[in-house]
Amino acid sequence: MSITTPLTQLLGIKHPVLLAPMDVVAGSRLVTAVSRAGGFGILGGGYGEREWLERETAKLASMSAPFGIGFITWSLAKRPELLDIALAAKPSAIMLSFGDPAPLASKIKSAGARLICQVQDEAMARQALDADADVLIAQGTEAGGHGASRTTVDLVPAIVDLAAGHVPVVAAGGIADGRGLAAMMMLGASGVLLGTRFYASQEADGAEEAKRRICAATSGSTVRGIIFDLSRNNVWPAPFTGRCLVNDHARRWIGREIELMQNVAAVAAEYVAAKAAGNFDVAAVIAGEAVGLIHDIQPAAEIVERIATEAEQLLEGKRSSVVGAFPSPLVGEGGAQRQMRGSIRGE
Ligand SMILES: Cc1cc2nc3c(=O)[nH]c(=O)nc-3n(C[C@H](O)[C@H](O)[C@H](O)COP(=O)(O)O)c2cc1C
Repeated sequence: MSITTPLTQLLGIKHPVLLAPMDVVAGSRLVTAVSRAGGFGILGGGYGEREWLERETAKLASMSAPFGIGFITWSLAKRPELLDIALAAKPSAIMLSFGDPAPLASKIKSAGARLICQVQDEAMARQALDADADVLIAQGTEAGGHGASRTTVDLVPAIVDLAAGHVPVVAAGGIADGRGLAAMMMLGASGVLLGTRFYASQEADGAEEAKRRICAATSGSTVRGIIFDLSRNNVWPAPFTGRCLVNDHARRWIGREIELMQNVAAVAAEYVAAKAAGNFDVAAVIAGEAVGLIHDIQPAAEIVERIATEAEQLLEGKRSSVVGAFPSPLVGEGGAQRQMRGSIRGE
């Protein structure tokens, strides 16, 4: 059994679970694992490093399962030749985030690839629809990495309503299990896009220490801001800020961003050295609020399967949303409905 949605039909995938194109972390190994498990792997083209892109797309050439390649739009606009390398790998879709997709859209679509656009508000969603996007990803502020300020639970239904009758909408930000997928489907989403959960997978290209810190982190231990971008001399356009785990470096500079800018040369040197040494007390572990739901480093295929199965059982009323309470005492013989009626009546 599997959940069929307009998204799974459009992309030709079994499960409505997408791997976020995490810069450097989502390499060909992770993309292959997610796509072969029936999800949709999206390679993390990030800011666009030519050699990395050529190497990783070459490794995807022999895969028959559908996959995508993602870019940071404003960065790709400075190096549009990277799009040719990506399209030569024959991805089913190109995902663009953070910037106007219009200048790149026609090349993507005329190459036969779908255009997936990640958006953070209604104006960006309209811009993406005007550029003929095939899928919108509504990304809430809980997301790891760059994003904006709206929450997932607010943004998803707003974008679902706006895109109704046009394109499927995927929810992103703070989702790490089947409860998240089921909840987002109740909000009208056709699927979910996960970054942080897949970072803590065996096939992710991140440092083992970064994965360990994600598993150890609790809810509320991430922060959205500009400190890590300032520290690595990588200034982003408004309204985008980045979310990462709170570490010593973040604690030191939160609220002192102007002072950081005044000392940026020294801070950047310290940051570069820490990154090279794998010192995550200074270098950022880019991750979102879903860290509170992640406790182990799993094979990516297991993550895909588990999320799809949990969501399916929840939506059918065969499972409780409470961790460890499976099967629910209320489930079976109309139990899910009883549970729902109970909460409506305040029983
Ligand atoms: C380590 C990391 C790197 C990311 N890099 C990118 C990126 O290069 N391009 C992009 O569009 N999104 C990037 N994102 C954001 C994801 O596309 C996605 O919105 C986010 O991971 C979803 O929220 P979640 O982390 O709570 O699952 C990144 C996220 C993480 C955690």
